[in-house]
Amino acid sequence: MSRADHLLSSIAGAIGNTPLIELSRITKELGGRILAKAEYMNPGFSKKDRIALQMIEDAENDGLLKPGQTVIELTSGNTGTGLAIVCGVKGYHFIAVMSKGNSIERARMMAALGAEVVLVNQLPGSKKGQVSGGDLELVEKETQRLTRERGAFRTDQFRLKGNFRAHYLHTGPEIINQAGCKIDAFCDFAGTGGSFAGCAAAFKENNPAIKCYIVEPATAAVLAGEKVTNPNHRIQGGGYLMKNLEMLNPEHIDGYVKVTDEEAVATARRLAKEEGVFAGFSSGANVFAAMQLLENEHRGQTIAVLLNDSGLKYLSTDLWV
Ligand SMILES: Cc1ncc(COP(=O)(O)O)c(C=O)c1O
Repeated sequence: MSRADHLLSSIAGAIGNTPLIELSRITKELGGRILAKAEYMNPGFSKKDRIALQMIEDAENDGLLKPGQTVIELTSGNTGTGLAIVCGVKGYHFIAVMSKGNSIERARMMAALGAEVVLVNQLPGSKKGQVSGGDLELVEKETQRLTRERGAFRTDQFRLKGNFRAHYLHTGPEIINQAGCKIDAFCDFAGTGGSFAGCAAAFKENNPAIKCYIVEPATAAVLAGEKVTNPNHRIQGGGYLMKNLEMLNPEHIDGYVKVTDEEAVATARRLAKEEGVFAGFSSGANVFAAMQLLENEHRGQTIAVLLNDSGLKYLSTDLWV
């Protein structure tokens, strides 16, 4: 049953079961197929609604989150928006701690949804719209301080299994069921690595032959073991220079694809113009990576990707100008 077929007791019931769309216009000259999961159609306009719901419900079920307790998270905005929605309808106060380098729409949306938003200054020399590993360390310190001060439950998306489970139990299996055809590969831009890890585990369980690739910023491909030439890329939500992501199972990584800022931007713009898909930088990165795979080792095959969040989240950036 689709979520539109019955009455929902809250907006949380509208999380997940997003459409899977074939990007046949963008692949016309390439051959092969790209199947894109429209995660920007979640209530908070990103895939992170899924992990927000899963982490909160796992913590409730495990007795780790008590009624009335404050919830806190370090966020680039998307997980925070999901948590603001889920905490809002479940009655938890939520604090979102975010770098000033992330786009302002995200902070405004979280605040509108009832969250307490704490913005952390970037390192001297960092650019707006480019959140570096160093910037993220400052946000982490502030999150730890506030967690202690407020006795809050931290929905730590880098560690809590709910991040992995949301995609392992739902996103991956939904793609397999909706595709109705053999999937040859999956590629995914990594932040926490949660969506890569969860989907890759579901895909490999379904068919071990499905190849899974991590997508990284071209100048900061640390997971591929490369030297960082510029930590300040523009693909928000990942590429944080963290070599060890707890979520990732090395056995599920078949390779790495690098994408430049320009390629991610150009592809996000093509998605909007040619496919009517209004998504953000990292969705552009995922689709560009899939196009690379179709031009090389996966010629003529079928690649699955996630469209991580909405282009509306970047109206204050130069993505659309
Ligand atoms: C827009 C966007 N793309 C990609 C990612 C990376 O997803 P994951 O943390 O599952 O690796 C995030 C994470 O915050 C994100 O917000």
